[in-house]
Amino acid sequence: MKTSPTTILAIETSCDETAVAVVQKNGDEIQVLSNIVSSQIALHAPFGGVVPDLAAREHAQNIIPVLEESLTKANVHRDDIDCLAVTSGPGLIPALLIGTIAAKTLAYTWKKPLLGIHHIEGHIYANALQNDLKFPLLALVVSGGHTQLVLMQDHLDYTILGETQDDAVGEAFDKVAKMLNLPYPGGPIVARFADEYAQLQSSQSNHSSHSKTSSRHQSKEVSENFSEKKYSKIIFPRPMIHSNDYHFSFSGLKTSVLYTIKKHEELKKDETFIQKICYEFQEAVIETLLAKTSKALREFHPKTLVIAGGVSANTTLRARLTSLASHDFPHIQFISPDFQYSLDNAAMIGVAAAFRYDTLLVTEKTTLLDSWSTLRADANLVLS
Ligand code: KG4
Ligand code: ZN
Repeated sequence: MKTSPTTILAIETSCDETAVAVVQKNGDEIQVLSNIVSSQIALHAPFGGVVPDLAAREHAQNIIPVLEESLTKANVHRDDIDCLAVTSGPGLIPALLIGTIAAKTLAYTWKKPLLGIHHIEGHIYANALQNDLKFPLLALVVSGGHTQLVLMQDHLDYTILGETQDDAVGEAFDKVAKMLNLPYPGGPIVARFADEYAQLQSSQSNHSSHSKTSSRHQSKEVSENFSEKKYSKIIFPRPMIHSNDYHFSFSGLKTSVLYTIKKHEELKKDETFIQKICYEFQEAVIETLLAKTSKALREFHPKTLVIAGGVSANTTLRARLTSLASHDFPHIQFISPDFQYSLDNAAMIGVAAAFRYDTLLVTEKTTLLDSWSTLRADANLVLS
């Protein structure tokens, strides 16, 4: 039987991306008709982090052009839209207010239902854009504001198994970058330096095993760049890795990185030292995330493992999870979002809203026509 599609117009402004998307769900088929993201990275970079009031001003400036672009690209008219969706939290309140007020205004003037969506629900559902989710599902949530293990017995049913007791993973990446005078946002650049160090290590071991055949020039370059002995003692703690729960902690790791950098102040501009710090930090993070994820996979036997949030863009973390799943849990399907949906975007809010909207009764959908007056932005909204 052919069903009629649900078309959602979604808005996301919880942090430093102004994003609007149009998503269509027809049964199991999901299509992103448009996904426009206007990034504010360049604006906040000189401050080393997101400045909430500046973010709000920029969202206010960009929201209408981004909305227009999204509607034009999707080639939909307001009459084609079944429901509006907006990130209602968690996030920076001045930033959330711009998206929610825009969505409420549209809902009021267009007389449309409006759904408030939890930002992390969106990140988890980014995985549904290309894959059919099977339950039970375990989500490893790793973003700038969250680090959680979430168990879902079914769609839209969340149990938080554990979460960070202090810093989130992305936040720790950003802080380590700052300590090394690397630009904001730190995650991608710390990851790049970590990868460079791993390559250096492997070229060093290749060099040792093929030293007879390698050219003199190459061997000089490798030994000049790779001062393994000088840095070999650096290793960081894996916080809470053996704790008998699903919680995380990254502030001790961050402090340990800080002390190491202070101890080797003279090396702060040495590229190999920076690469080594980034590598060891990333290793400590990944090992900790993998240990807790394995523990949850063993205890709850989900059918699917997904990774969600901005840190899911980390290719080493994805590779390690892929290999963990294929070696130790071959019956579990591991899914990661397409890179364009890893970082904040509105398509993820749209797909989560489409799943929510499809479960509602007609009367519940009618009640959503009043959301323009009841929906509230909540900086500390809890996933439920
Ligand atoms: O989900 P997201 O876009 O925003 C929040 O909801 O917080 O995540 C942003 C975080 C930042 O901390 C950023 O440094 C981190 O994700 N990130 C990465 C990578 N790309 C972005 N962390 C590690 N490796 C990456 N490749
Ligand atoms: Zn996010």
